[in-house]
Amino acid sequence: MNFTKSAPLSGTIHIPGDKSISHRAVMFGSLALGDTKVTNFLEGADCLSTISCFQKMGVSIENQQGEVIIHGKGLHGLNKPDSILDTGNSGTTTRLISGILAGQTFETTLTGDASIQSRPMGRIITPLSQMGAHITSLHDNGCAPLRIQPGTLHGIHYQSPVASAQVKSCVLLAGLYAQGTTTVTEPALSRNHTELMLRSFGAQITSKENSASIEPNPVLNGQDIAVPGDISSAAYFIAAGLMVPNSEIRICNVGINPTRDGILRVAKSMGADIKLENETTAGGEQTADLIVRSTALCGCTIEGSIIPTLIDEIPIIAVMAAYADGTTIIKDAQELKVKESNRLDIMVHHLSLMGVDIEGTEDGMIIHGGKTLHGAVLDSHLDHRIAMSFAIAGLIADGTTTVERAECVDISYPEFYKDLERLSR
Ligand code: S3P
Repeated sequence: MNFTKSAPLSGTIHIPGDKSISHRAVMFGSLALGDTKVTNFLEGADCLSTISCFQKMGVSIENQQGEVIIHGKGLHGLNKPDSILDTGNSGTTTRLISGILAGQTFETTLTGDASIQSRPMGRIITPLSQMGAHITSLHDNGCAPLRIQPGTLHGIHYQSPVASAQVKSCVLLAGLYAQGTTTVTEPALSRNHTELMLRSFGAQITSKENSASIEPNPVLNGQDIAVPGDISSAAYFIAAGLMVPNSEIRICNVGINPTRDGILRVAKSMGADIKLENETTAGGEQTADLIVRSTALCGCTIEGSIIPTLIDEIPIIAVMAAYADGTTIIKDAQELKVKESNRLDIMVHHLSLMGVDIEGTEDGMIIHGGKTLHGAVLDSHLDHRIAMSFAIAGLIADGTTTVERAECVDISYPEFYKDLERLSR
């Protein structure tokens, strides 16, 4: 797909539902008693993988264009699936469901696409095994396919070496089925959607600084969940609105949970003009409309505890840094190497091809911004966030930017190109 310099962006956009929250709504709704009604559900391929896994375990789920109704089976109501569970491209499905499966009385095997089969699962195998789960990487390489056999689980206090909501959530979900309290402490606080939503379903879950604890065997009750717009998807429009000259856009109903809003804090420190209106809170999740106007940006340093709050936005932040005057340093972001693709290497490679002065470091990158970007031919590596980042880079570059295998945006934002075109008309 080709992109060229854009006319000013204007108008209003409603971003699709948050991916992390949509996954969790299906999972927790399946484990609850009664119905869970989810509005503004994200119809991306990843969340559809979660639906299909729970359907295979006997949960009845109706999906009618953005409204999903889950007829919950209770904590102990899942059935053994007839076949292998396919988690597609979704790390969240794979890791969170593993915590649930570890507590079942039946054996399951799960696997996903080539990317999932190369992503590290040792980070969940280790704590689940400490809890008494029987979980094996079938190719003995610490990756999926995973076989999960019934085990008697007991609570642990897990000191996670990574700030990862997928690891934290996996362990907390296994904790629903364990004897005693389960606690996870992380080196920095990752997104807390599991804690907020499980609490609203009735779980006994407490959070303090970088730790969360859960008690076993709650009765979970079905909920109505209005999913906020995904700030990780909004990030592409925030960047485009800031960088394409003379733009002004309103991005409606965006989730601004403080464990996810690092992009806003970084944009502000780069000098961005972003206003928040209509701030509200529902189900513990804050939302707002964002009004974004094009601004000159300057470089900044991004490191430490802010990293988990903007981990999926680093590719588009790197594009903003290439546009910004001065130097941007990104540190402590080694997790980017084990996302849907090696996002560190690919960002450095692709931005270099566009003429950006950028160097990769062990845990991040250094970007000397402010020079005009040049169009280039760039493969998405089937990574949705790489595809969307370079579609936006193409709007401010000279010449034509070609994103190959651009259709992978289906994972988190099927309507992305249509929405982008609408704002640039
Ligand atoms: C997610 C957590 C993050 C994020 C992913 C979604 C979640 O992964 O990158 O896109 O929904 O819990 P990690 O927990 O591995 O950092």
